[in-house]
Amino acid sequence: TRALLAEAEPDDALGRLHREIGACARCGICPKATAPVPGEGPVSAELMIVGEQPGDHEDLSGRPFVGPSGRLLDESAEAAGLDRGAAYVTNAVKGFKYAPRGKRRIHSKPDAGEVERCRWWLDLERELVAPKLILSMGATAAEALTGTGKGILKRRGRIEEAEDGTPVLLTMHPSYLLRIPDAGRAEAERAAFREDLGAAARLLQ
Ligand code: URA
Repeated sequence: TRALLAEAEPDDALGRLHREIGACARCGICPKATAPVPGEGPVSAELMIVGEQPGDHEDLSGRPFVGPSGRLLDESAEAAGLDRGAAYVTNAVKGFKYAPRGKRRIHSKPDAGEVERCRWWLDLERELVAPKLILSMGATAAEALTGTGKGILKRRGRIEEAEDGTPVLLTMHPSYLLRIPDAGRAEAERAAFREDLGAAARLLQ
């Protein structure tokens, strides 16, 4: 894969990578999902945004962050002056892992082995896009990008590094913000999320 990608023009290489991701069966997740969901955005993006895995909406549409988490990301990015359309948006794991419950499909967290397997694709996306900054949302993205997802509540807002030295700004996952039951705390956490997005925007200036 790496050799093929090295030969192509960046746009073609990204298209080729997305087709390869679309055919992946390296772990048990994607064969049970609709299809793997590759990242989306310009190959020239300076910012790469990484989430956990596609949810129900993303699985059905084939695009990352189009469901409720995506809406919160969009609103927060707009409020923070961060242009999502200019970013390359992707996930640590490309398939929707779920447990069936009646007609519904309930999100299940990818395990460490699945995150490790899928890192092959995330690493290739990272190599091709070569972003100046990565915004890592949630523990799974932190695990894939920095080697550990532990202690994310304390690490959020910090800048760490990916394997190749690319700065990684850590923040919470929007789906976590959507699940906080207490309205006051939820708003405080959303404000902190907007601050992290604003910090990303400033770092790119
Ligand atoms: N949550 C994620 O982590 N990624 C998506 O694409 C959607 C929801």
